[in-house]
Amino acid sequence: MTTPDAAPQARRVLVAYASRSGATAEIAQWLAERLRSEGEALDVTVAEVSDALDPSGYDVVVLGSALYEGRWLRSASRFARRHRHDLDHAWVWTFSSGPLDDSASTCDIAATNSADRASRHLLARDHVTFGGRLAPDSRGWLAHAMVEGGHGGDFRDRARIDAYADQIAGELSMLPRHRRPAA
Ligand SMILES: Cc1cc2nc3c(=O)[nH]c(=O)nc-3n(C[C@H](O)[C@H](O)[C@H](O)COP(=O)(O)O)c2cc1C
Repeated sequence: MTTPDAAPQARRVLVAYASRSGATAEIAQWLAERLRSEGEALDVTVAEVSDALDPSGYDVVVLGSALYEGRWLRSASRFARRHRHDLDHAWVWTFSSGPLDDSASTCDIAATNSADRASRHLLARDHVTFGGRLAPDSRGWLAHAMVEGGHGGDFRDRARIDAYADQIAGELSMLPRHRRPAA
């Protein structure tokens, strides 16, 4: 008697994000939605980075953070530093979200130092900066002053976010399951 070939197991993908006011959390959801739409080959989970989040069971990690004063949020930088060895086997991509104008839609914005450091810790294959969002009712005196100064608005570009998810899915379809076999 022959048994049918087992279907290949879906890759486990973690989209992890650090967000203060929710805009980056939504970008993470959009990336996850698009990755899920690529078929059943990807089993996608979205989670906020925290000390309790353990990424070691995932085959793929997409890690992103909002930018504040030129830097990733501390929780995201710490996550990258802390899990650099747990993710030896995983394929990793990173993203930042911040610019409050259309610059991120019209050109490639280089990673800031902290985003670059995190990306290097995790040997990320690529990093992209997306536009950000500053809501008119943002809290905090600096955010409020920025809104008053005319910097409010939503500059997140869904087409660019979808394109990054498509890029990730396309590369994954050509890569072995793991970057390095588990020891
Ligand atoms: C006080 C403050 C500082 C900011 N600093 C930067 C910055 O240095 N670079 C940048 O690109 N965006 C900066 N931004 C824009 C935020 O990154 C943007 O609003 C982002 O979408 C916020 O994401 P979140 O809602 O996930 O926290 C700043 C916003 C505020 C309110």
